[in-house]
Order: sequence, then structure tokens, then C-alpha cells
Amino acid sequence: MKKKTDFLVIGSGVAGLSFALKAAKHGTVTVLSKNDLEETNTKYAQGGVAAVMSPPDSFEKHIRDTIIVGDGLCDEEIVEMVIREAPERIKELISWGVDFDHKKDGSYDLAKEGGHSENRILHYKDITGQEIENALISLVRSDPNIEIYDNYFAIDLLTQHHLGNLVTRSSFGTECYGAYVLNMKSGGVITFLSKITVVATGGMGNLYNTTTNPLVATGDGLAMIYRAKGIIDNMEFVQFHPTSLYNPGERPSFLITEALRGFGAVLRNIDGEKFMNRYDSRGSLASRDIVARAIDSEMKLRGDDFVYLDGTHLDSDELKEHFPNIYKKCLKEGIDITKDKIPVVPAAHYLCGGVKADRNGRSSINRLYAIGEVAYTGLHGANRLASNSLMEAVVFAHRAAMDSSEQMKKFTFKKEIPDWNFEGTKHPEEMVLITQNYKETQQIMSNYVGIVRSDLRLERALKRLEIIYQETEELYKKSTLSRKLCELRNLINVGYLVIKMAQSLHESRGLHYTLDYPKKKRTTEF
Ligand code: FAD
Ligand code: SIN
Repeated sequence: MKKKTDFLVIGSGVAGLSFALKAAKHGTVTVLSKNDLEETNTKYAQGGVAAVMSPPDSFEKHIRDTIIVGDGLCDEEIVEMVIREAPERIKELISWGVDFDHKKDGSYDLAKEGGHSENRILHYKDITGQEIENALISLVRSDPNIEIYDNYFAIDLLTQHHLGNLVTRSSFGTECYGAYVLNMKSGGVITFLSKITVVATGGMGNLYNTTTNPLVATGDGLAMIYRAKGIIDNMEFVQFHPTSLYNPGERPSFLITEALRGFGAVLRNIDGEKFMNRYDSRGSLASRDIVARAIDSEMKLRGDDFVYLDGTHLDSDELKEHFPNIYKKCLKEGIDITKDKIPVVPAAHYLCGGVKADRNGRSSINRLYAIGEVAYTGLHGANRLASNSLMEAVVFAHRAAMDSSEQMKKFTFKKEIPDWNFEGTKHPEEMVLITQNYKETQQIMSNYVGIVRSDLRLERALKRLEIIYQETEELYKKSTLSRKLCELRNLINVGYLVIKMAQSLHESRGLHYTLDYPKKKRTTEF
């Protein structure tokens, strides 16, 4: 079955929905989401959105903080562009109904997080993402030009390859004509033909055993674009959030926002020592890579399963008022954060690399845009400054919408694309063939390609992943489509890219730390 739409948007997080709202002014828009519309990384965002709102903050300070944390790999022109455009996009979010907390005097209650030299995080309590997602969903649902397909899974992007032509990574003029999409209820596949396709599929935290990301974050967009021969880069830089609640068996891991440290909470080891002072003069508010590595080292050296985040010295009413969601969740787990220290561990959180996208969100494939966490724009470099990703998503969604609505006029639908071929496939006899490989992939990545790496660990990871890859590809060829199998295939793809790019970097930088090359090759001057 074929369907046509001017703009095919894959993903219903902040990037996909804010793009959709703007594109709908220029043509028909279809938004796909593989789960319910709101189940996105966006919904789980706690800390907030970074933006320069008023003195003493300045664009220069935010730019500088972003570049320092990015450890020499940020594209400085992109950093400047995004940071200068962010306040405009914040105003737009507010005009769309997003509420940010104010202080009693009416000014914004700006929070501080690791690596920021000023208070500049706009937030709504500790559920900023949910506030943004809800506002966007209600607008998208009421827009007559937007059609929503939730519980539809994008399998692969359509290019000249589907017309029988050879497409390679060095082919010039590869174009995207839409996507094959699985209706998860009926098992049927729709061929969505589009003039413009936008991949806004978010992150890939589920590549690891412990992650703050919901189950939807399996790197599908990255893998689809890699298979379509698009350019992917910077994949070695996987960000681990230092403080997720230690609650074995819970998936995703519940995040304890960095804003809590910005509010005065401190990290302690199980003996009560404020160990961060031994690792960095900024203590608990050092940048995320440093804090996550320090916690990892402390846990490994001492043989402990977690460290503590201690906010018991803070005003208990204020703590409850600012962090109601964390208070409620911890209480449910038997921890009263006003009286008890919170056990925390690092968890895979964010991918700094991704689909290479230019200043308008264009990927290396024509008619195909990548925005939000799936994209590698050059903003984050080797490490992301806290709360810079919601900001990046809205800035690039806007730019991509402006650019693609002009481009769209040049394109027509590629009606010759054939429908999905189910021939020779049947249901896998045993689900364990998929679930076991899924778990193994997560274990390999967590144990060998996590916060600390080495040449030997990366080599072992690659060898083992290769076996899982072969088994999964064989299974895929003969199986009817299922979300779980497609996700496994995508995760393996993404894991391969992380390992290969990590192997090519013979130094430690930003989020990539290897025992074999513990130093940076070049130091960044600032
Ligand atoms: P997402 O919001 O993840 O949306 C992805 C969408 O793609 C989903 O709708 C999903 O269903 C869809 N999708 C994926 N694959 C497919 C497929 N194959 N077919 C169809 N649909 C598909 N950043 C900040 O700046 N500030 C914060 O305070 C902050 N806190 C965070 C807290 C947590 C717990 C987490 C996990 C992240 C946090 N981040 C924060 C990061 C930030 O939330 C994300 O980077 C951002 O929300 C990503 O938005 P997105 O639109 O790119 O993707
Ligand atoms: C947090 O609230 O600590 C997460 C912020 C982010 O990931 O940017």
C-alpha cells in the first residue's frame, strides 16, 4: 500500500513535532512514532533548556562554556549560530503554551548545571520535557495539515537503491523518496512517498545495560541512514549521565537531574567523603564526563555498587518545591530526599555524534534532513554541555523547516518505488534468538565500550558484535518484520559505528576515555 505526503517526519519528540508544526504551513505533514506519541526522550527531560535570557549572562559566556565542554571538537560557527538563535526559539515555545518557572519577582527562575558559568537553564519544575512535549502534542493534534501515525515503525529509507540502482557512500546525488513503515498492529508495510523526509528519531541509550533513555531509543534513524549510505560521524562520544537512581532491574533508569547538584546537592562515597574534590576543583559541578568517570573510578576502586547524592543539608520545602517529581519517585522507592542520601550510578544518556547534518539540518542524502539527537551538527563536539540538546533540537527544527519548505517545491513523488516484498519470510520460531542477542549486545557495549575503554576491549567488542551481526542478519532475511528484530539490527549497527570510530581515535578526549592513550593529543586553549 502506498501513501503520499509532502513532509514525512519520523519521530514525535521536540525535534519532530516542532518541525511538523512549521512545515504544516507549507504542505501536508505525516508524523510517525513507533510508540504512543509522547513516549520520547523529550518527555523524560528534567533539567531544562539552556539559553541566554538576561545579564549577567551573555552569548559569549554560553558559547565559551559549550566549547570548553566540547573539548576541542565543537564547530565554533555552529555553536555561535545555535546559541544566538536560541532565545528566539524559547520565545516561540512560550507562545506555543510552554510554561517555564518564574521567581517571585517575575523573572525566570534560571537553574545552573555542570559546566555552565551562569544560571541559564529555563525549566518547568523537574519535568521540563513533559511540559514541552504536552504543549507540542496538543498543537500537532489540532493541526488539519498534520496526520499522525502512532505505533508505526519506520524500517528503511527509500532511495535509488529501491529502483534497482547501485548506491554507495561515495555516490553523488543519492536522494530519499520516503520510507517503508511497519503498521505494528496489522503487520502490514506502508510505502510512504514523500517530497521531504525528516529523521528525528532521537538517541540510542538502549545500546547499553543501564540507560536513562526510554525503550524507544534504539538508534533506528542512525542505522536507517547508515544503510541508505548517508554519512554518520562523531559516534565515539556517548554521554553517560553521572546520576541515575540506583534501582537494579528498573529500565529506563530514573534520572536524578544535574540541576539538583546545581541547587547544592553533593556527591559522596559510601563513607560520606565528598570525593569529587579529589578529581576536579569544581567538585560535584564539574562537567558530566569528569563526574561520570570519577564515580565509575570510585565505585571500581572501592568495589561499591553506587555513590550517594546528598541533598539533606538543603531546605526541605524548597527541595520539594523545585524537584517534586524526584521527591515523589524517590519516596516511592523508600528514600525521602530531604532526610536520606540518594544512591546513584552513571547511565548511558545521550549521543553527541550521529547523522552528519549541515546548518539547515540537511543530511548528506538529498531530500533527507536529520534533526534533534539523531543529528551530528557540530554543536557538542566531544561532550555535550547540559541542557544544550533541547535547545539544539528547536533551533535545527526551525532551520530545517524553513529550508525544506523552499526545497520541497522542486520535488515530485517517486511513484515507481515498489511495495515491500514479504516473500520467503515467516515468524521467527523462538523469540529468544532475538532477546538473547539484544542482551548480549548491551553487555558487550557496557563492559567494553562504556565510560572507560581500551584497545583490547574495543577489539573484543568488535569480534563479538560481528558474530551477533551475522546471526541477526540471517534471521532478518527469513523473518517477517517485527519491531524487536528491527531494533536489534539497528542497535548492532549503531554499536559497530561507536566501536569503529572509538578505535580510530588514538587519544582520550571529552567523553572518549581509553586506558591506552590517557592523554589528549592537542590541548585546547581558552
Ligand atoms: P526524542 O524525543 O527521543 O523522540 C524520538 C522519536 O522518534 C520518538 O517519537 C520515537 O517513537 C520516534 N522513533 C524512533 N525510531 C523510530 C522508528 N523506527 N519509527 C518511527 N518512529 C521512531 N536535554 C536537555 O537539553 N535538557 C534536559 O534537561 C534533558 N534531560 C534529559 C533527561 C532524560 C531522562 C533523557 C533521556 C534525556 C534528557 N535530555 C535533556 C536529552 C533530550 O531530552 C533529548 O536529546 C531530546 O529530547 C531528543 O529529542 P528528539 O526529538 O531528537 O528525540
Ligand atoms: C539533567 O537534567 O541532568 C539532564 C540534562 C541534560 O541531559 O541536558
